[in-house]
Amino acid sequence: MTTTRRNFIQLSLLAGGAAAVGRSADAASLAVGVTKAEKKLQLLVLGGTGLIGPPMVSYALARGHEVTLFNRGKTNTHLFPDVEKLKGDRNDDLSAIEAEVAKGRRWDAVIDNTASIPRWVIASAGLTAEAAELYLYTSSISAYADSATPGADETVALGQISTEDEAKVMTTKDITGENYGPLKARCEEEARKAFPDRCIVVRPGLIVGPGDYSDRFTYWPVRVAKGGEVMAPGTPADPVQFIDCRDLGEWYVRLAEDKNFNTYNGVGPRSAMGMAEMLYGMRATVDNEISFTWVDADFLEQHEVAPWAEMTVWVPPKGEYAGFSSSSIARALEAGLTFRPLADTTRDTIEYWNSLSAERHGKRRAGLAKEKETKVLAAWHAHEK
Ligand SMILES: NC(=O)c1ccc[n+]([C@@H]2O[C@H](COP(=O)([O-])OP(=O)(O)OC[C@H]3O[C@@H](n4cnc5c(N)ncnc54)[C@H](OP(=O)(O)O)[C@@H]3O)[C@@H](O)[C@H]2O)c1
Repeated sequence: MTTTRRNFIQLSLLAGGAAAVGRSADAASLAVGVTKAEKKLQLLVLGGTGLIGPPMVSYALARGHEVTLFNRGKTNTHLFPDVEKLKGDRNDDLSAIEAEVAKGRRWDAVIDNTASIPRWVIASAGLTAEAAELYLYTSSISAYADSATPGADETVALGQISTEDEAKVMTTKDITGENYGPLKARCEEEARKAFPDRCIVVRPGLIVGPGDYSDRFTYWPVRVAKGGEVMAPGTPADPVQFIDCRDLGEWYVRLAEDKNFNTYNGVGPRSAMGMAEMLYGMRATVDNEISFTWVDADFLEQHEVAPWAEMTVWVPPKGEYAGFSSSSIARALEAGLTFRPLADTTRDTIEYWNSLSAERHGKRRAGLAKEKETKVLAAWHAHEK
């Protein structure tokens, strides 16, 4: 297998680091049919303008809550002109939050979308521990020590920070493939320490949909929509998991409303899905002549086609990745996680991609190059004869 944990995570990090442009889900469409919450909450969102933030904030506003955003004012600055914005930097400037706390400001929940560095959580959770009722921290399924067990739930072991990184917990900005998961695990620990019994932790898997700047899931709906012979990886039954950013963001608000203190895997879909179901679902959403050619994992490896990075969303379910795409979501379902149809995610992701500039299209961050697909398909057909 050509892909290592490092590859996965490097792509994950890239997803978290880029300033977004293009059309994410618009607030008006997200608000349609949303009923007001029984109690209006004051929410402080750390972040709010990347991928999960926009639908979360739109949904919170539609539920009648009051939202304050804290970020540097760099990403998607056009969003939410009427929402209170506190400007600062989690690296070294929380003074805007500090000033609010000193004035006696109180929040029902702090929703921390951004942190992968423990000292960020230590600082923000420490600062708001007395000023907020609960802290909702966004971790990752990468926090687990391994991905070898299909169906693993939230109780399995988390990655441990290395001795070398332990010394850097209060300083590090150097997030790497190796330390991303353990750092997330440590962030969780710090959030729980500051908000004992008042903490919610969500560990998302692959977050997808409009606004996704990693291009991982996006590769498939865009490729399928183009039509022709599409190279499909592995076997049709190989499992996939992902979550639409809108399903995740909206659920966060409901978790905060319900004070559902627990730790959750945040992935979908509701029922187990194979690679074929995902691709056929996408094909059913677009109008084009499309066929799929399934190329087995060993052949892809021989031809240096990388799972996850090139054949995105897909990881051969064996060895240390046997459970990578089959985390248990029983607890999340119990706590009200819902899923929009794959057709909606497909259609809106294509629309989002089409709203990006030609320059951005030329700098795709994941997925297989068309020329390479053609070449490997030709080799596969020759091998099949
Ligand atoms: N993408 C995935 O598939 C995936 C999978 C599992 C877990 N995760 C986790 O999900 C989270 C991603 O969240 P998101 O990007 O969707 O959240 P978001 O809240 O929508 O956007 C990130 C926000 O962080 C702000 N920000 C970035 N650097 C900052 C800094 N130094 N100080 C203050 N604010 C800062 C950005 O605004 P400014 O730039 O204006 O500051 C932006 O508002 C991350 O914690 C990631 O580890 C992602």
